Amino acid sequence: MDTTGIPHRPGRLPVIGDLVGSNPRTPVQDTVRVGREVGPIFTRKLLGLEIVFVSGVDLVDELNDEARFGKHVGLGLRHLRALAGDGLFTAHTSEPNWRLAHDILQPAFRQEAMRGYHPIMLDAARELLASWDAATGPVDVAADMTRLTLETIGRAGFGYRFGSFERTEPHPFVTAMIRALRYAQLQNIRLPLVKRLIAGSARQNKADIATMTDLVDEVIEARRSGGEPSRDLLGLMLAEGHPETGERLDPVNIRNQAITFVVAGHETTSGALSFALYYLTRHPDLLARARAEVDAVWGDREPEFGSVAKLRYVRRVLDEAMRLWPTAPGYSREAHEDVVLGGRYAMSAGDWVLVPLPLLHRDPAAWGPDAETFDPDRFDPAAVRKRPGHAYKPFGTGERACIGRQFALHEAVLALGLVLQRYDLEADPDYRLEIAESLTLKPAGFTLTPRVRALVPQS
Ligand code: HEM
Repeated sequence: MDTTGIPHRPGRLPVIGDLVGSNPRTPVQDTVRVGREVGPIFTRKLLGLEIVFVSGVDLVDELNDEARFGKHVGLGLRHLRALAGDGLFTAHTSEPNWRLAHDILQPAFRQEAMRGYHPIMLDAARELLASWDAATGPVDVAADMTRLTLETIGRAGFGYRFGSFERTEPHPFVTAMIRALRYAQLQNIRLPLVKRLIAGSARQNKADIATMTDLVDEVIEARRSGGEPSRDLLGLMLAEGHPETGERLDPVNIRNQAITFVVAGHETTSGALSFALYYLTRHPDLLARARAEVDAVWGDREPEFGSVAKLRYVRRVLDEAMRLWPTAPGYSREAHEDVVLGGRYAMSAGDWVLVPLPLLHRDPAAWGPDAETFDPDRFDPAAVRKRPGHAYKPFGTGERACIGRQFALHEAVLALGLVLQRYDLEADPDYRLEIAESLTLKPAGFTLTPRVRALVPQS
């Protein structure tokens, strides 16, 4: 894209560009800092790679126009294809398998389908509660939320238990996945040192991908050869064809989808829960309000399916946590045709830009001068109606938006409600929010001491 006239931070140098002051461990937070200085459209150039970021709500509104723009599979996503191939998340929209899988899998993610996942989600949540009941000191919130969400997607998607709460060491699939995701991410960094590191780990990466595909193949084979038929995601992919053409997914694609759902379907939700708990424990008044809602709606009962969506304030807490720290921190948009963005910036067909969600979600034009403040009432329906629709996009946009949104929200409201119902939570008053960046965002080193509330009957 012709970047002439698009602002960038002062002090850009030949060859290295804007490298000074940027940290390979915190690309999202670096982008947020730069965007605050020079947004709502800006470029960052790192060693010859120049990326255009668009964070202003009006410009993003244009980019989300599906007639002129679509998802771009580049940068972070391109290298993930070694892992997830043409699975839904990393597929190009033009690949026939994207539409096929999307149409076959969509029914499994409609609101009605959540009823079937509810007991499975509860089952995984009970394991979290049992481990917190037994805790004698602080628990690592992000680690435990990741255990919870991994168990949930493993069981609801494939009838597979990773045993996360029983293990002291992560499941080999998880170790392989974390390493492979890191390897894919490092491929975007053009520093010679990083290139050497990547070359040195190529064999390990191959082994990691094999560990993941072998496990998925085993699970699929067990199901094919006489496992219980089930309407979970795997059951659907094995048994169902396209609703109109009857065409089926091929075995390699089913494997790619399985890996995709585990990767895309747990860290994001886990991060959202962790940030929500962080903000609640920083704001005892809001925590009290959320808990009062849980007590009023659920009492001391285990929640039935229909009572989860009734926790409207708890849901707003999650929405607000994902506003400030959207755990999938951005998406890319590619022009279908030659266009002029914002009446000023020429894009040729195929040019792409990145939408950094933490900046969009803090744009004062949409969120006001107190955009940095945590305030779940921003998601009160009346307040939502007053805002531009494209100011909040934690689940992406258009036909390539998150297919797992309802799943994530049911799971997260349920888990947060259960935690508030059962525990008094003591946070370390000296903790300062630190964000760990991988494919997703999480609060690093955030611990809580959970104590079973005096009023909750022991189960
Ligand atoms: C809070 C939790 C979650 C967040 C914030 C989130 C966010 C996102 C975003 C932003 C995208 C679009 C990415 C892009 O345009 O490049 C996306 C896509 C996707 N997500 Fe999620 N996600 C969450 C949970 C889940 C869950 C639980 C699942 C599966 C069970 C899932 C599966 C997917 C898949 C398969 C796609 C690709 C869809 C397609 O392109 O057809 N996500 N997600």
